[in-house]
Amino acid sequence: ASKARTAYVCSECGADYNKWQGQCGECGAWNTLSEFVVEPAVKGGAPNLAASRRASWAGRADAPVVTALKDVTHQEESRVTTGIGEFDRVLGGGLVHGAVVLVGGDPGIGKSTLLLQAITRMAQALPGLYVTGEESLSQVAGRGARLGLPLDGVHALAETCVERILEHASKMKPALIVADSVQTLWTEQLGAAPGSVSQVRESAARLVRYAKETGTSVFLVGHVTKEGGIAGPRVLEHMVDAVLYFEGESGSRFRVLRAFKNRFGAVNELGVFAMSDKGLREVPNPSAIFLSGSRAPQPGSCVMVTREGTRPLLVEVQALVDSSPLSNPRRVAVGMEQNRLAMLLAVLHRHGGVAVGDQDVFVNVVGGIRVQETAADLPVLLAVLSSLRDQPLAEQTIAFGEVGLSGEIRPVPNGEDRLKEAATHGFKRAIVPKGNAPRGGRVGEMEVIAVERLAEAIDAI
Ligand code: TYD
Ligand code: MG
Repeated sequence: ASKARTAYVCSECGADYNKWQGQCGECGAWNTLSEFVVEPAVKGGAPNLAASRRASWAGRADAPVVTALKDVTHQEESRVTTGIGEFDRVLGGGLVHGAVVLVGGDPGIGKSTLLLQAITRMAQALPGLYVTGEESLSQVAGRGARLGLPLDGVHALAETCVERILEHASKMKPALIVADSVQTLWTEQLGAAPGSVSQVRESAARLVRYAKETGTSVFLVGHVTKEGGIAGPRVLEHMVDAVLYFEGESGSRFRVLRAFKNRFGAVNELGVFAMSDKGLREVPNPSAIFLSGSRAPQPGSCVMVTREGTRPLLVEVQALVDSSPLSNPRRVAVGMEQNRLAMLLAVLHRHGGVAVGDQDVFVNVVGGIRVQETAADLPVLLAVLSSLRDQPLAEQTIAFGEVGLSGEIRPVPNGEDRLKEAATHGFKRAIVPKGNAPRGGRVGEMEVIAVERLAEAIDAI
């Protein structure tokens, strides 16, 4: 009889070893190997797996054959709405039947709240099982009641052992399972402690297998580790259909749900929520909330139009530039990448003739949103300049554009959309790359100033 084999798998690159070793021979990372049980093959688990497969395929009616791709019949994925528009948007238009979706985020960000809201609203279409390993059933029910959620059709289970969870699931046959959180799950197959990378991976793998065998949809909740991954980088991300991150600055009530991977939709789609005393509320027209509120122009502030996912968003970038007591002045970026800020400041010096070498520079994207696209380059530099000179930009001005290393302002995708969004919100002036500017230099009431070089943009303000 075959036995389950133990393997050691690197949590960085996924390389597989028979014996434990301190350093991964593939990627060179240290102390990343952890124990896994490899299931024996379905029949016999023969060492000569290839031969036994060949033998068993040969006579089968359903043996794979080469087919012209155009002749392959396929169906559109059928989707169910989560009852939350912003959630549907990030999923690519609703939850696909049988999909496994990982929802990651910092502890306390609102993952349990969001999924409880979703599972109760989906109960009509998909009878759900909410498995909690972190809270008691009464805490879950209490939250549901307090949020005024319809609790009919949703069952709950306080259990962390994956074998027992699946036993209940095979009896109850829910169409949707929420496992909150993967970090609390463990399987009897492994000796490792719950929460260890191997337990998390193996438990998640079992749920994924169950989902694929039965067509059950599954939401896995995962806390983000301090390195920024869910239970170690890339361990779960490749085995699920979609990975969504729930983000927000502490102290801000706004939350952004972002698709990081999605087999059934676009990545970088954003869903925007506000945490209230009645749970998470959708913010279907988010542009307004990412402006700091005061429309009277302040030094160090520039409004940009970012386009994460499929809709443009007005977002305010703030900068504070102040003479530094340090020999190595600070560059702090919140909501954008630190290295990019350092690079932009170098371009500002070299091609704009503005030195900030002896200044601390802080940049913040208002509202707890993260801007990843290069369209933020120009607004960041304009905010920095405005703070340095202690002069606000002209009232009702927006900007966007990528800044190249030779000081050129490069166009960004969907310029027209961005300009329209700004004009709709009553902005009067836009400083944008030449390649994004419309002929005639206007969009509605808004004047569009086209710039090709950083120096021109500096002249324009
Ligand atoms: P939770 O969903 O438990 O976070 P996670 O599962 O990601 O750890 O959310 C917890 C936080 O949300 C907690 O700090 C309280 C806050 N909250 C509200 O402000 N309003 C609400 O209606 C709820 C349910 C939570
Ligand atoms: Mg939780």
